[in-house]
Amino acid sequence: MKKTAVVWASQTGNTKEAAELIAGEIGREQVDLFEVSREVALQLPEYEMVIAGTSTWGMGELSYGWREAFPALGDLDFASTTVALFGLGDQRVYGDWYVDAMGILYDRFVARGATMVGAWPNSGYEFSSSKAFRDGMFVGLALDADNQHHLTKERIRRWVCSIRPHLD
Ligand SMILES: Cc1cc2nc3c(=O)[nH]c(=O)nc-3n(C[C@H](O)[C@H](O)[C@H](O)COP(=O)(O)O)c2cc1C
Repeated sequence: MKKTAVVWASQTGNTKEAAELIAGEIGREQVDLFEVSREVALQLPEYEMVIAGTSTWGMGELSYGWREAFPALGDLDFASTTVALFGLGDQRVYGDWYVDAMGILYDRFVARGATMVGAWPNSGYEFSSSKAFRDGMFVGLALDADNQHHLTKERIRRWVCSIRPHLD
């Protein structure tokens, strides 16, 4: 098992809940689970595998915790790290910016050399536009606790299955 971190920022608890479910699905004792901060971000390159979650706020912006950590990420080297992302958003009310923050994190990790895994299909979602939607797939697991909370556990189960080969 690779040394794995699950790291999240959350304003109302939805991303935190998803992070805990993901950690539980992998095996809670096998991962380090963190709320992101600048200090936590600085430790992330020590991990072989990072699973990072953000909700989207404003109109297509990072949640507060990632806004604080984002500048530090720009100085880090993730060339030895595999990264998988998950994003929370509201496709109905914010369908022009659905899970945009996941796309913002994606671009930053790619720019710092990370190997990205965990792309996810868009079937079952209705949105107009998303920075996290590239070449017909989401760049990571898209969740919607506001409108599709009943699908969260099953989506997480399937997504963790899909990234499991990268965890071993
Ligand atoms: C003021 C406000 C702005 C939001 N902006 C967006 C947005 O631009 N895109 C999106 O997909 N979701 C947006 N959302 C929805 C949140 O991302 C969603 O409720 C999420 O589950 C919150 O997760 P958290 O509690 O972990 O922060 C917004 C919600 C609020 C209340």
